[in-house]
Amino acid sequence: MSPAVTAALAVLSLCPLFAHCLVDNVNVIWYEKDSREPQYYYRSNQDVPDGLKATTKIIVNQRIARLQQYSYEGFDNLTELRIDFCKVKEIEPGAFDLLKPLETLTLCGNNIAEIDKGVFNNVQVQHLNLSKNYITYIHPQAFDNITSLQNIVLDYNQLKCWSSAWFRNTPLLLNLSFRHNLFEELPDNAFTNFRTEIKTNSSQLSLDFGYNRIHLIHPRAFKCVDKLDVLNLEYNKLLMLKVETFRNVTRIGHLILKGNPLTCFPKELLLVILAKVQYPAI
Ligand SMILES: *[C@@H]1O[C@H](CO)[C@@H](O)[C@H](O)[C@H]1NC(C)=O
Ligand SMILES: *[C@@H]1O[C@H](CO)[C@@H](O)[C@H](O)[C@H]1NC(C)=O
Ligand SMILES: *[C@@H]1O[C@H](CO)[C@@H](O)[C@H](O)[C@H]1NC(C)=O
Ligand SMILES: *[C@@H]1O[C@H](CO)[C@@H](O)[C@H](O)[C@H]1NC(C)=O
Ligand SMILES: *[C@@H]1O[C@H](CO)[C@@H](O)[C@H](O)[C@H]1NC(C)=O
Ligand SMILES: *[C@@H]1O[C@H](CO)[C@@H](O)[C@H](O)[C@H]1NC(C)=O
Repeated sequence: MSPAVTAALAVLSLCPLFAHCLVDNVNVIWYEKDSREPQYYYRSNQDVPDGLKATTKIIVNQRIARLQQYSYEGFDNLTELRIDFCKVKEIEPGAFDLLKPLETLTLCGNNIAEIDKGVFNNVQVQHLNLSKNYITYIHPQAFDNITSLQNIVLDYNQLKCWSSAWFRNTPLLLNLSFRHNLFEELPDNAFTNFRTEIKTNSSQLSLDFGYNRIHLIHPRAFKCVDKLDVLNLEYNKLLMLKVETFRNVTRIGHLILKGNPLTCFPKELLLVILAKVQYPAI
């Protein structure tokens, strides 16, 4: 083999673009069970250490533009996977082929612009944090069937249009945070997938839309919502709230409306809405 070919092969075998990514091939920081001491694994000068497969927590510590299909077979004890500030731009369907559910998956501070169908469907994770990306588009079915999902954070993205189709078959999802996006409206029946009858503990639903551009809440946006633990609409562009909007909502724990240019807010409406609110912040 010519030296040039040998060199090319050597580069290929190291390059995560041409091999299965993550863990076998990427620099990671990992933690042994019950240990707070970080372990470091550098793919270029080490074999995969024995303890790595038994780890509970992995932090990817390398620039990686495209997350490719990867099976976490054998990582029986993994509960936390952090791929933050790694310049991830694309995620292939199958990138999180997990055999056991994760508690936490974070992909913060990357360059993700779109979440397509197939990337997260059926990925079993309780807490999913995608904050600080450039997400402008989420496929209507992108988050379907994540049956163990409890918390999702999409703060600091560029989402503009809420889809009422999002989050089908996520019965445990009760805590959603979309702070610092570009939402302008909450549409008709926006929370149809959060219907009381399909939610375990529906009274604990918490929605955070702080720091968006919401100027319109459709009168039937909360058609299917009975109770809300938190509804945070602080620092939006609401000029008015209609009593109709909360007709079907019987109780709101915290309603946060500060930082809105609420001008048209007749006292009667205020009283009808506030009668349902435990802790108002207006
Ligand atoms: C996972 O943890 C259990 C209990 O500590 C251990 O017996 C098992 O070997 C670990 N799994 C792997 C793949 O190392
Ligand atoms: C989500 O990630 C951001 C950025 O790392 C962090 O500031 C925030 O606390 C996380 N939120 C949750 C609920 O873990
Ligand atoms: C969600 O699960 C249902 C029922 O198994 C299936 O028909 C549907 O295709 C799944 N959706 C996605 C986006 O995978
Ligand atoms: C919901 O998420 C917020 C931050 O995103 C966190 O402070 C709160 O504890 C979470 N609540 C539950 C019930 O997980
Ligand atoms: C539902 O709420 C009850 C009481 O607040 C709590 O004990 C239980 O763990 C919750 N179940 C789920 C699935 O969150
Ligand atoms: C309240 O719920 C009923 C029954 O689902 C529905 O017909 C009505 O449009 C809802 N009203 C509002 C204001 O959402």
